[in-house]
Amino acid sequence: MKRAATGSSLPDIPESVRLVVLDVTGRLKDLPGALLPVLHGIQDALGYVPEAAVPLIAREMNLSRADVHGVISFYHYFRQQPAGRHVIHLCRAESCQAMGAVTLEKHVKQRLGVDFHETTKDGEYTLEPVYCLGNCACSPAMMVDGELKGRVTPERFDAWLAAEAS
Ligand code: FES
Repeated sequence: MKRAATGSSLPDIPESVRLVVLDVTGRLKDLPGALLPVLHGIQDALGYVPEAAVPLIAREMNLSRADVHGVISFYHYFRQQPAGRHVIHLCRAESCQAMGAVTLEKHVKQRLGVDFHETTKDGEYTLEPVYCLGNCACSPAMMVDGELKGRVTPERFDAWLAAEAS
């Protein structure tokens, strides 16, 4: 049965967000288990999955809003707020801990003036924890915007940050 048009019951969202959601769902919604690829596609395009977009995603995927919301909140990778321009994932798992990750974590937080899940005041960096990046042989590890970095000492972190800022 053809679904009735339900657009009028959807909350207003910015046109740019609506177009991204429709584009991504249009391309991917018929894949088996399409919700995760769809959410990845939206986050790749927008940097996050806006809460206000959930009803539209649900409608396009023929799922309930609770289904979509539940998946977004279950997977830590998905964010519902925009991140800073760069996202730093700092590894907190065992191998990295054995190689100084705790000291590095303290240093990075102090240096950036943020805790995990926070963004620096200038909007430049968001700091996130991660639990093993598969780079254990080069602990401690961090990932910046998807790029892996190994053997990150506080000094090397500072050198990297200075190079980024210059
Ligand atoms: S424990 Fe840090 S990369 Fe594996």
